[in-house]
Order: sequence, then structure tokens, then C-alpha cells
Amino acid sequence: MSTLVKSGTVVTAHETKKADVRVEGERIAEVGENLQPRTGERVIDAAGMYVIPGGIDAHTHLDMPFGGTTSSDDFETGTRAAAFGGTTSIVDFAIQGRGTRMRDALDTWRKKAEGRAVTDYGLHMIVTDLGGAGLEDMDDMVREGVASFKLFMAYPNVLMVDDGTIFKALSQTAKNGALICMHAENGSVIDVIVARALAEGKTAPVYHALTRPVQAEAEAVHRAIAMAEMAGAPVYIVHLSSEDALNQVREARDRGVPAFAETCPQYLLLSVEDLERPGFEGAKYVFTPPLRPKEHQPKLWGGLKHDHLQVVSTDHCPFCFADQKILGKDDFTKIPNGGPGIENRMQLIYHHGVNSGKLTLNRFVEITSTAPARIFGMYPRKGEIAAGSDADLVIWDPEARHTISAKTHHMRVDYSMFEGFEVRGNARVVMSRGEVIVDAGQAAGKPGRGRYLKRTAHGGAWK
Ligand code: URP
Ligand code: ZN
Ligand code: ZN
Repeated sequence: MSTLVKSGTVVTAHETKKADVRVEGERIAEVGENLQPRTGERVIDAAGMYVIPGGIDAHTHLDMPFGGTTSSDDFETGTRAAAFGGTTSIVDFAIQGRGTRMRDALDTWRKKAEGRAVTDYGLHMIVTDLGGAGLEDMDDMVREGVASFKLFMAYPNVLMVDDGTIFKALSQTAKNGALICMHAENGSVIDVIVARALAEGKTAPVYHALTRPVQAEAEAVHRAIAMAEMAGAPVYIVHLSSEDALNQVREARDRGVPAFAETCPQYLLLSVEDLERPGFEGAKYVFTPPLRPKEHQPKLWGGLKHDHLQVVSTDHCPFCFADQKILGKDDFTKIPNGGPGIENRMQLIYHHGVNSGKLTLNRFVEITSTAPARIFGMYPRKGEIAAGSDADLVIWDPEARHTISAKTHHMRVDYSMFEGFEVRGNARVVMSRGEVIVDAGQAAGKPGRGRYLKRTAHGGAWK
């Protein structure tokens, strides 16, 4: 099947031009001016629209056991919701159980996705144990296309690993070309502060934020970068939330150190005040690192503009308010950590970034698609509009108005962190490998059509 996307404005990370895009099978065949439709070819009219590469969300947690429950979106509901918002690839996280092999976790997560995913999906591996054959397991994962690993400096006794383990993992990537993604918060210090708060009877959701100071994040970012420098490897800081942490990344990058970082819409648009909402409502905003005072938001936007931050992902980890967040009604430490956002990332960053003049259109494409494709070993197959790339295309209507709400969203979660937010700019048609998977607000992609993305090591962070 051949398709011609006609009369649109093609926007990539590096240029904006009037052009038509011809798709043959799963790939882009040509990009050029005044391409003529061929007999029998489907034509999609993109006049007045932007044609952008499908969004890539490099940080999601679908069907993930966490905090005594499981995230409420699975690979079907989560990737379908992603597609509605213009995201055509995700990278989710498999978790190595302590004392088990990484291959077991990879098999488990691939089974969760197979037969369900609507979009393409890759997997990072969360490393909890490098004893036994852990280092060989990392090489094995790289051969399987798991070209990145996440390590936790937070959540002692659950996911946290010690500095020696982090250094060993970083050193292994110096040999195999994978990328370490770091959850950077000083978990040991935070646990002491949390215990003190609980002893003082401070159990409301806001104490989740008040017990995780910015210094705990900045210190861990500093330590992570220092260890990466010693190991001779790049490092990628996930879900960076504060100016203090950003300063650490910027200082390292200014010295030429290959340190990279992502932030998420929630840190750009929400604040600690959301955790103070009346009743137990603040639990909807409990995730880690926590929301910060509003003053951090312009610093993060500035970081995106000036490439001190490279990526916007969502850290989509939804838990329903009614029967999951409620587990922490009397104790904030029991609130499952995580929030939903996979569907709204592109809309929010376009509206609050491009429409407000904080980001150029090209930078919007770069931070939501091209940069994650490069950094995570998918470029130029993903994140680009050029002959030979996968035909993951979004026909983006810059004038479409939409009010975000749990009443209308497609994520399987009973609230929205961005309830009532009005945005201008939305995905109209979404193509994944040449197939229309969302058309004017209607789902068209079958569960199970999404494919596992085997990613390559020595991605953009190594260049
Ligand atoms: O609170 C969060 N962020 N939940 C998901 C797990 C993680 O740390 O990314
Ligand atoms: Zn994390
Ligand atoms: Zn996460």
C-alpha cells in the first residue's frame, strides 16, 4: 500500500519546508515538492498541517508491579493512548528481580507487550543485582536490543543499588556501548527524613514532596555524573525535576562531559502546590522525584531551549485514584508512586512550548522525537522524515483545540494530572510504519501490531 501525504509543512529537528511525503509499505520512499499521486495511491491531505516524525516517549511504565500494586495501563491501553497524542514509539522498563537473570525479565516484559502493543516499543532493563553473571547479562541484553539500563539511587531495599554496582554497570557500558539511565535521588538520606516525618505524624501526600529535598536530587545527579566520568561512559539522568539538578548537568556539559537528561511535562507545568490540594487529592501528584516550587519551571524550560536538557518523556506510571492511590490514605509512603501522561506529552509541550514562544517548532520535534531516537539507538529509523526511515508520521493540526480531561482521555486511569488544561495543537492523523493508527480521533490500529524495537548500542550519547 502506497500513501502520499500531500501539501503539508514537513517539520523535522533541523528544517521546516513545504513538502509531500510518499510512503511505500512501512517506509518513507521520498520527500519532495509537488509529488504527484500515482494510480491507486491513497492521498492524505495535509494542507494547513504540520507533518512531524512520530513522537517517542523514552520513559514509560506499562503493566508494572510497583508499590504493592500494578500500573493501570497495559501495553494495549497505554500504547493506544500514546498514539492518540501523536506518540508512535515508546521505551518501557523491564525489571530484573534480585537474584534473577535479566533474560527472565526481558522474556516477561516481551510477553506483556506481544499481542497487545499498538505502537512499536523498546525496553530498557532496570538492574537490581549485578552479582553472579550480571555483567555478562548486560552484554546479553545489548545483543537483544536492550541498549540502555536504568539504575536507582533511591528506594533502598526495593530498587536501589550501591555506588559500587553503579560504577560497575557504567564501566560495562564503556565496553558494550549501552547507556545508563539514572534515577538520581539520595535514597538513604530521604529514608531518614521520611522516618522523621512519620514519627511526627506527618502523613499527608504533601510530605512526599517535603521529604525529598532538591539537594537529594542534585547531590545524586552530581555523584552519578562523577561516577560516569570515572568509568569513561556517558550517563542519562531520567525525570529531572529541579533547577539544582539541572545546574549539575549543565556544569558537566559545559566541561564537555557526555551527560544527558530528560524532564517531563509534570515538572514543567505542575508544582508542589498540587500536592496540597484538599482531601486526599494531592495523592494524584505523588511520584518521584516530587513536584517542586513553581520557580523551577522556567529554569527547566530554559534548559530545554538551550540543550542543557535533551528530551521530554512522560514517566507514565498510572495508578487509579479510587483503588490504588488510596492505599496511602493514612501514610504518604504507601501511595503508589507514579502519574499518567503518555497521551498528553506532545499536546502539552507544543502548546506551552511552541505556542508560548519558549521553543521553536524544530526544537519541539527534537526533544519529543529525534533526540530520544538518537540517544536510545533508533535513529534514523525513528525520529526522522527522510527516505528509508520508518513511516511514523503525525499530521499535526496546529489549530485543533482540546481540553484535557479524564472524561475523554484514552489512558486507563480515573483522573488526569492536567484536568481542564486547554491546549491548541493536536495529532489529527497518526501513522505507524505506514499504517494509519489514529484518524481524526478514532483508533484504527489493532492491538498486537506494534513491534519490539531492537535498539543499537553506541547511540547518540556516545558520539
Ligand atoms: O514515581 C515514579 N516516578 N514512578 C515510576 C518509577 C520511577 O522511578 O521512574
Ligand atoms: Zn525513576
Ligand atoms: Zn519512571
